[in-house]
Amino acid sequence: MTDGARLPSSPRPARMYARTFMLTIDIFTLFPGIIEPVLRESILGRAIARDLLAVRLHNIRDFAADKHQVTDDAPYGGGGGMVMKPEPIFAAVESTLGAPPAVPVFLLTPQGKPFTQEKAWSLAEGKGFALLCGRYEGVDERVREHLAAEEISIGDYVLSGGELAAMVVVEAVARLLPGALGDEEGARGDSHEGSLLEYPHYTRPPDFRGWGIPEVLLSGNHSEVRKWRREQALWRTYLRRPDLLSRADLTDDEKNRVRQWREESEKPGGD
Ligand code: ADE
Repeated sequence: MTDGARLPSSPRPARMYARTFMLTIDIFTLFPGIIEPVLRESILGRAIARDLLAVRLHNIRDFAADKHQVTDDAPYGGGGGMVMKPEPIFAAVESTLGAPPAVPVFLLTPQGKPFTQEKAWSLAEGKGFALLCGRYEGVDERVREHLAAEEISIGDYVLSGGELAAMVVVEAVARLLPGALGDEEGARGDSHEGSLLEYPHYTRPPDFRGWGIPEVLLSGNHSEVRKWRREQALWRTYLRRPDLLSRADLTDDEKNRVRQWREESEKPGGD
């Protein structure tokens, strides 16, 4: 390996330290109670307590104009399920963020663009954003067309609503804010930073049920440890997520290694 000093990392954290203002995320939902407890715990709770992050919850039902505060209705054209009505959603967003909204509004939906670490970085570096949680069969198409800046999906599966997906986005973004992890290096070696999966971790005891740990980690040789970790990250990514390697920031030497691994596995009898 020619450049053992490089850990799986993104060049971006240096830019992040320049952030001087709190990131505000507005969440529009019919079920703020799903979200509230998550915001109190762990890294999110700490980021909010430290004024690195503000999350404002808005109950869409509060913006329904009729006496019964109806937020859904049957779909035009028939069929099962209910559709979220456009008026309370537009009223909630526009009365909070202006018309057009002052920050991008992302609709959480399984039809959206897959959420990535790259997107988390761009949101963490931005001026704030809003998340709109869909429920029922979906939202009226006019919300997608005329209110949402973009649609985000957290994966190819269907949840009962966007609330948990919104929490995934908030958590992924919050941990990138400078100071949120306590350890400024913390997010750098994460899986998906630099498009590589993370290397394996071990802690005490050195022998657990007869299962040891790699010798190099006990050597005290930091450059060897870095080299080992980088190699593990590369190998693990090659085995588990080879699709990521085309985007990864690899040295020429590492590209050759990957090419060799591929060639070997393509040989008859290779794995
Ligand atoms: N709402 C329901 N399923 C979802 C998903 N996979 N991603 C984002 N929002 C959703």
